Amino acid sequence: MNLILLGAPGAGKGTQAAYLSAEFGIAHIASGDLFRKYAAQGTKLGLEAKSYMDKGQLVPNPITINMILERVADKDCAAGFLLDGFPRNIEQAEALDAALKKTGKIIDRVVYIKVSNDELLKRLSGRWICRDCQTPYHEVNNPPKTKGKCDKCSGELYQRDDDKPATIQNRLVEFNKQTEPLIEYYTKKGNLVEVNGTQTPEKVWLDIKAMVS
Ligand code: AP5
Ligand code: MG
Repeated sequence: MNLILLGAPGAGKGTQAAYLSAEFGIAHIASGDLFRKYAAQGTKLGLEAKSYMDKGQLVPNPITINMILERVADKDCAAGFLLDGFPRNIEQAEALDAALKKTGKIIDRVVYIKVSNDELLKRLSGRWICRDCQTPYHEVNNPPKTKGKCDKCSGELYQRDDDKPATIQNRLVEFNKQTEPLIEYYTKKGNLVEVNGTQTPEKVWLDIKAMVS
């Protein structure tokens, strides 16, 4: 099964991806996590990506498309993959379609997680993430058992550089301008399903599971 998780910054893509990849055993490919990994390693690609991410802008398409299409061709994606944060505009979606067509693969479902802007702001400003396994927490909605420590792997929790109020605003503007047109793009293709993301993470997961099974 090949899936796309579509949603605004803070909609819960990473949170739901953890449920989905555990349930279906498919590879979780998060474009933002890959960029942050390369930036932490200090690679040229990572540092270039970081210069855009810190401003809340999208990383240019050629860099992003190459990185994701290479990753989708890896062996562990043969049994299925879950794209989180990609595609983010029409050009990326068309590049993905063209690449999949060559290998005879299709996207089975595009899950759009819908959440209001007010809620997104609250979620992102209270988010803490594990530096090692990327599990997201929230200081009010979903706190870790021990402050500053990941429940799953005991890794250190940190706040993302782009979770500052002004940068969050820019990310939301980019989403509305560049990513929202994908809702119509995939609706026309007939594989988009919409889930109410303003419910508990467990309830959102049950709705998604029912839609993709
Ligand atoms: P990326 O890392 O993809 O970030 P994003 O899309 O802005 O989304 P987030 O990761 O912030 O949120 P999420 O939906 O994963 O929510 P989460 O589960 O963490 O991208 C970052 C940057 O990289 C971009 O701005 C861009 O610069 C670049 N980039 C990435 N992909 C690109 C591409 N394709 N093209 C170009 N550039 C690209 O949850 C958020 C918080 O809410 C957490 O605290 C969580 O605990 C909490 N929460 C989750 N679900 C619920 C719930 N149901 N109820 C209450 N709280 C909840
Ligand atoms: Mg995420």
